[in-house]
Amino acid sequence: MLMLRDVMRRFVSGDSEVRALDGMNFTLGEGEFVTVIGSNGAGKSTLLKAICGLVEIDSGAVELDGTDITRWPIHRRGALIGRIAQDPHEGTCASMTIAENMALAARRGQSRLLRKAVTSVLAASFRAQLADIGLGLENRLDTRVGTLSGGQRQALSLLMATCANPRLLLLDEHLANLDPRTSEVVMEATARLIAAEKLAAIMVTHNMAEAIAWGDRLIMLHAGRIIFQAAGGEKAALTVPELVERFHVASGQALTDDRALLTP
Ligand SMILES: Nc1ncnc2c1ncn2[C@@H]1O[C@H](COP(=O)(O)OP(=O)(O)O)[C@@H](O)[C@H]1O
Ligand SMILES: [Mg+2]
Repeated sequence: MLMLRDVMRRFVSGDSEVRALDGMNFTLGEGEFVTVIGSNGAGKSTLLKAICGLVEIDSGAVELDGTDITRWPIHRRGALIGRIAQDPHEGTCASMTIAENMALAARRGQSRLLRKAVTSVLAASFRAQLADIGLGLENRLDTRVGTLSGGQRQALSLLMATCANPRLLLLDEHLANLDPRTSEVVMEATARLIAAEKLAAIMVTHNMAEAIAWGDRLIMLHAGRIIFQAAGGEKAALTVPELVERFHVASGQALTDDRALLTP
């Protein structure tokens, strides 16, 4: 359903040039869930940004459901692609309540006429969705989002990113700043949502164990290219030390993201 063809994106800083995406070819199947790992600067975030339109590509093409969306602006892709970043501030508005945040996300893509009518009906649905997550937010619809924990805000971001029934969900280290228990709760909620909505999803994580445990396929990025991938039984049988070794062999370098090794 998603296809990147020979995607190139360079960044110039000073007199050096970085190829954040260096002829990237990547295909995602209908409802497929792919996890992405790679050291700092490998191009993971740029890959997701090129897909959702936050970053323009220099050459190549991005296709969604057979349509070339390469030149589509970000807002046009928004109805089809949900994205959650590492920073909870990106996905939610601190000065508004939980209900207001969710209503805003739910209204995306709907006509003005519909907006007033849905409000009261939505409240019950919001409560049910929040209860499903399991972080005790269902009775706090009128709480300002700025007072919530990072994990609660990421859980809310997750509901907001998926409520408009996108085709594809992009997760850019959305668990990175959460404590281990909350991270587990939000990850389980993420996986449940992906399965229930039959969403195609790409999840970037620095946690190799997480990348092995979740999803249908794992890809490893280095210098803007995919240097290793595994799916099915081969992926399930991977271990963290094996992945680290794969990285050494494929990149000829040591892994520069210490978090990947230190996180259990
Ligand atoms: N806006 C930008 N300006 C300049 N360089 C950038 C920009 N975004 C990314 N880069 C560079 O592109 C490379 C890939 O970045 P990124 O996709 O953020 O890596 P990752 O998410 O894998 O850590 C890095 O070398 C980074 O410094
Ligand atoms: Mg990144």
